[in-house]
Amino acid sequence: MPYALVTGASSGIGLAVSRMLLREGYEVFGIGRDFSVVTDLPENARFHPLVCDIRDTKKLLQLTGAIDVPLSALIHSAGCAYYGMHEELSLDKITEMVDVNIRAPMVLKQHLLRTLKAQKGTLIFISSVTAIFPSPRGAAYGATKAALSAFAESLFAENRKYGLRVVTIQPDLTDTALYRNADFVPGSDMLAHLTPEAVAESVRFALTQPEGTVIRDITLRPQVNQIEKKSHP
Ligand SMILES: NC(=O)c1ccc[n+]([C@@H]2O[C@H](COP(=O)([O-])OP(=O)(O)OC[C@H]3O[C@@H](n4cnc5c(N)ncnc54)[C@H](OP(=O)(O)O)[C@@H]3O)[C@@H](O)[C@H]2O)c1
Repeated sequence: MPYALVTGASSGIGLAVSRMLLREGYEVFGIGRDFSVVTDLPENARFHPLVCDIRDTKKLLQLTGAIDVPLSALIHSAGCAYYGMHEELSLDKITEMVDVNIRAPMVLKQHLLRTLKAQKGTLIFISSVTAIFPSPRGAAYGATKAALSAFAESLFAENRKYGLRVVTIQPDLTDTALYRNADFVPGSDMLAHLTPEAVAESVRFALTQPEGTVIRDITLRPQVNQIEKKSHP
C-alpha cells in the first residue's frame, strides 16, 4: 500500500487531497492543528490525523519521525495568508506566513528527504499563482509562495538523479477558508473560483504520471476573473 503525508489536511485543499489519496488506495497521515472543526473528516482506517502546529519544529519532527512506514508522497498544503498594504501588516502576521509557508516545508522536507528518495517518491508543494504574478495587498504572502516555488525547483535539480519527483502546483483563487483574514473572497460565480477538489485532481494527475515523466509545475486559474468585497470584513 502506498503511504502519503499531507500537511493542511484539516481544511480546504489539503483535506480534498487527503480524500483523493484515500480513494486512490493510499494510507494517509494528515497534519493539521484542529481536526475537531472538520464535520466531514474522512472516516477511514487508512486516515491518521496528526495534530501539530507546524511552527513548532520540535513537535513536527517528533511526530513525523514516528511515522515508521515508507512514505512515497508528501503533499505540503498547509499555509496561511494575510492581506493588506504592506506597511499595515503586523510583524506577527509576517512571521506566521514565513514560518508556515516556507520555513516549515523546508524543515519537513530536509527531515523526510532520505525516505522519499529511497522510494523514488513525489514531493508536491501547493504554492500559488502569487509566486509568479504580482500580488498587490499580498506582497509578503506572494513572496513566501515565490520562495516555496523556487525551493521546489532547486530541490528537483538537486535530487532528480535519485529519481525524486518534485511538483509545484500554483492555484489561483480557490473556494476555501483561506480568505478568512481578507476583506475579499473569490467570486461566487462558479466559473470565478477553483474548487479544492479541482486542485486535488491536479495532485492526482501529477502522482499518476508514467515512470520517467515529471509534471514539474501546474498553474490553475479560474475561467472567469472575479473577486467580491466582503460586506463586513
Ligand atoms: N484558497 C486559495 O485561493 C489558494 C490559492 C493559492 C494557493 N493556496 C494555498 O493552498 C494551501 C491550502 O490552503 P487552503 O486554501 O486549503 O486554505 P485553508 O482551508 O485555510 O487550509 C489551510 C490549512 O493549513 C493548515 N495550517 C495553517 N497554519 C498551520 C499551522 N501553523 N500549523 C499546522 N497547520 C496549519 C490549516 O490547519 P488548521 O485549520 O487545522 O489550523 C489548514 O488545514 C495554502 O498553502 C495556500 O497558500 C490557496
